[in-house]
Amino acid sequence: MHLRFFLSLCLSLSLLAQGKGVVVSQERLASEAGAAVLREGGSAVDAAVATAFALAVVHPAAGNLGGGGFLLSRPTSGQPSFVDFRETAPASAHPRMWLKADGTYDEPRHHDELASVGVPGTVAGLREAWKREGRLPWARLLAPAIRLAREGFVLSENQAASLAEQLPAFRKHGPTLAQFSRKGEPLRAGDRLVQRDLARTLARLAKDWRDFYRGTTARLIVRDMKANGGLITAADLRAYRPVLREPLRGTYRGLELLAAPPPSSGGQVLIEALNILEGYDLRAMGAGSPAAVHLTSEALRRAFADRAQFLGDPAFTPDIPLARLLSKAHADELRATIRPDHASTSDPARFIWPKDRPDTTHLSVLDGKGNAVSLTYTLEESYGLRRIVPGAGFLLNDELGDFNAVPGLTDTAGRIGTAPNLARPGQRPLSSMCPVILVKDGRVVMVSGSPGGRTIPATVLGTVLNAVDFGMDARAAVDAPRFHHQWLPDRIQVEADLPAATREALQAMGHTLKEVKKQGCAQVILVRDGRAEGAADTWRWVDSSVASE
Ligand code: DON
Repeated sequence: MHLRFFLSLCLSLSLLAQGKGVVVSQERLASEAGAAVLREGGSAVDAAVATAFALAVVHPAAGNLGGGGFLLSRPTSGQPSFVDFRETAPASAHPRMWLKADGTYDEPRHHDELASVGVPGTVAGLREAWKREGRLPWARLLAPAIRLAREGFVLSENQAASLAEQLPAFRKHGPTLAQFSRKGEPLRAGDRLVQRDLARTLARLAKDWRDFYRGTTARLIVRDMKANGGLITAADLRAYRPVLREPLRGTYRGLELLAAPPPSSGGQVLIEALNILEGYDLRAMGAGSPAAVHLTSEALRRAFADRAQFLGDPAFTPDIPLARLLSKAHADELRATIRPDHASTSDPARFIWPKDRPDTTHLSVLDGKGNAVSLTYTLEESYGLRRIVPGAGFLLNDELGDFNAVPGLTDTAGRIGTAPNLARPGQRPLSSMCPVILVKDGRVVMVSGSPGGRTIPATVLGTVLNAVDFGMDARAAVDAPRFHHQWLPDRIQVEADLPAATREALQAMGHTLKEVKKQGCAQVILVRDGRAEGAADTWRWVDSSVASE
């Protein structure tokens, strides 16, 4: 039996009884924390908040207190909402902050410094969502996370391997090494990871979430920043506010889409690509066929070119032409430039992408009444800065690396608008995170999202096409081989098991391919025939898990 199929079968519970809530996340203990909240009568938002706090303990690679993200909620009664808790640049940030004195730049340099930390938004964002749609007491939602941090949890093979891989980075910082190793030796599967400082921080937040921004936790952050060259001040922390935004809206083959608005590009890329693809009969072409992969890649190429030109934090770029970009007419124009049998070219002189390395995490919730939450949050890289706040026990993000690093690295004629995404005080770096909810006839039919940096919209797009066009169930929609195109570099990234015949045909059309082992980690809920199917991405992250109410 194919390994991918076997793992999926063993490790994911995919069919769930009608009327039962479902939580899908990258770790079993976190999904279970969310499901327990649903059983107690908590709302979908309550479950998402509890799952997110638990992930901050059991999935330190991306679950976080020290990062930021987006929570999209679609309650059965009331309006959909989008809580933007993206990190902000501190007041002393500026567009040339990563350049050396001689004006040059070392590619990954900014990721490794305390100066790359954005003011974290997670705690304020989860609190904002809870304030609006929570039912259970706030402290109840932090309780599982506090227990998991205080009493510890037994590491899986996968978790131990992930921590061991980071050991060289953790060694650069004593308190981080102490938290994530046994006196400098790697923790092993079966060992218990206890995080006492993190438990104390969570307990303070359970009493008063503002502690993060103006209490003991804030003082611990600022002390670290002052001592080690960070930019975040007490005033930056006090000034942090999540932003409540209108979700982006689109339609695709009769379905309504709710997706992430700027400062994410996730919704723009997804909706624009879907609008282009609506003009083709993908179903007749078949999933993974050369024609379907070619056209999807060409759609992504064009959506990513628009992203580069226009997208940034709307507070600093108020004139993003979103209505035009998301219109069917724009998609018609773009579709007309696609050749059915040959690759287009992206102009490599125009833009050099900064490198993205994974890690982020997504969770999907659908309760028994049809209320849905789609939440993606991140530390940017895996384990963020790989540095905890001493005494507070949580990892810091390196999110400011999502700003364009060098003004002028893009075309000096200004044809590509990198200006919208430069570091300025208070600005939020452009994201690709793409939590999405699909609705049909007033009812939620799909919740999806994924990590994967710039590949995120392509991964989410793939899950939507697999379900809507190719009629796959949730399990197959998650498992199917993935691919990605981001305009530049001009190539299709493909997972290793995309059929050889498809690859050869794509190369014959003029595409360059780059193989990767895995792309993203999608956590999907699909409603078919009135039944909610949760499918966790166990193939790509073996601990991923569905829990039911
Ligand atoms: O916001 C973003 O788009 C990136 N900071 C996300 C990074 C990421 O997804 C890495 N994940 N696997």
